[in-house]
Amino acid sequence: MTNVLRLAIVDPSDSARDGLKTMLLGLDMIWLEAECSRYEFFADVVAQTNPDIGLISLDADPDKALKLVEQLGMSSPNCAILVVSGSTDGTLILRAMRAGAKEFLPKPVRIEDLVAALERVSDRRPGRGDARKAGSAVIAVAGATGGVGTTSIAVNLGCALAQDPKNSVALVDLDLSLGDADVFLDTIPDYTLVDVAQNVTRLDFALLKRSLTKHSSGLFLLPRPVQLEDSKLITPDDMQRVFGLLKATFTHLILDLSKGYTPLDMVALEAATHVLLVTQLDLPCLRNVVRLLQSFGEVPGLKDKVKVIVNRAGLDNGQIGLKKAQETIGREIYWQLPNDYRTMVEVRNNGVPLIEQSPKAAITQSIIQLGLTLCDHEKSPDDLTDSVRTGKKSWIPFFGAKK
Ligand SMILES: Nc1ncnc2c1ncn2[C@@H]1O[C@H](COP(=O)(O)OP(=O)(O)OP(=O)(O)O)[C@@H](O)[C@H]1O
Ligand SMILES: [Mg+2]
Repeated sequence: MTNVLRLAIVDPSDSARDGLKTMLLGLDMIWLEAECSRYEFFADVVAQTNPDIGLISLDADPDKALKLVEQLGMSSPNCAILVVSGSTDGTLILRAMRAGAKEFLPKPVRIEDLVAALERVSDRRPGRGDARKAGSAVIAVAGATGGVGTTSIAVNLGCALAQDPKNSVALVDLDLSLGDADVFLDTIPDYTLVDVAQNVTRLDFALLKRSLTKHSSGLFLLPRPVQLEDSKLITPDDMQRVFGLLKATFTHLILDLSKGYTPLDMVALEAATHVLLVTQLDLPCLRNVVRLLQSFGEVPGLKDKVKVIVNRAGLDNGQIGLKKAQETIGREIYWQLPNDYRTMVEVRNNGVPLIEQSPKAAITQSIIQLGLTLCDHEKSPDDLTDSVRTGKKSWIPFFGAKK
């Protein structure tokens, strides 16, 4: 359970503690190690169970609670303290921070704030080294033009990642007008992104999971709205909250973006851990990659998350050579997926993912490896791009582009 934060909670109010517990139990990244209803017993509980995080609710008796925060700082320095309070009094916040609290969460606690605080605490944990980050990996799949293979990659990458029982994976179709991720998975969903976005403040984790459609591969799908006009009902704020809730519930989130680069797509790009920019090796696509990278430069941190993926490598239609393509876009190609039109059309028309339809095909294996590489923080991306560039035989399949 290296990816999990162990947490102990103290709150003398049973109902408030239960509310927090329900929220915490829905989080994949949290293991609830202990709960306690008395401030005076909590230091012992922490000493015995040694959790990564101590969550202290201040409201029942702020003075007692703040003394406890101070005491834990000395007796259990490796336990990061988060405090929760219904008061937003600046003096109380200051006292909590001075006592040694790492984070102050105002009540009612919003899930996305809790997750963000947990992620910050997890990042600051001593001895974390390069261990896998707690929290969700968000992979946004964007395209350099229409029909470049974005949905094929998003759906099949999601199904491949969902094969690992340690992973829980959700796919969100952000192509709000014409998205077809549901067709690729041959599902007729009950609810769509617009239902979830409109009810996001009322949803808990159980309801959220029930609003998504689970495919036999294990992948959960949140599809585009049914009616074209419903797209307008989703605001960037809603979208941010939906991502917060999904990130708190799933280990992996795949976002299939529209080609409109709308404000909602931009929210997705900002939420992403990795942005896969899918292109083919032709001039219009590569020119768009250059334009998109230029625009992404305006958003802090975005350009660094982009990984250029060449789809349909080896397609015999006068493709531009890999070296020339890399020169044109001014960066390395992170991955190449081979051209296999027959298999790809079959999986789409049958509504069956690659791992089921053609598990041994080179395209399937390449997508599985892409998922493993993206989510395996031990491997250096530099090593990978080197092997792609040089074409040396390595464990990553190389599909050479024509010179
Ligand atoms: N590696 C591949 N080899 C051959 N054909 C492919 C490959 N990847 C995708 N395709 C085919 O390309 C077509 C477009 O794919 P897809 O719908 O995934 O693209 P998209 O970028 O999501 O399109 P849109 O812009 O409509 O959303 C499909 O017919 C699909 O089967
Ligand atoms: Mg698509």
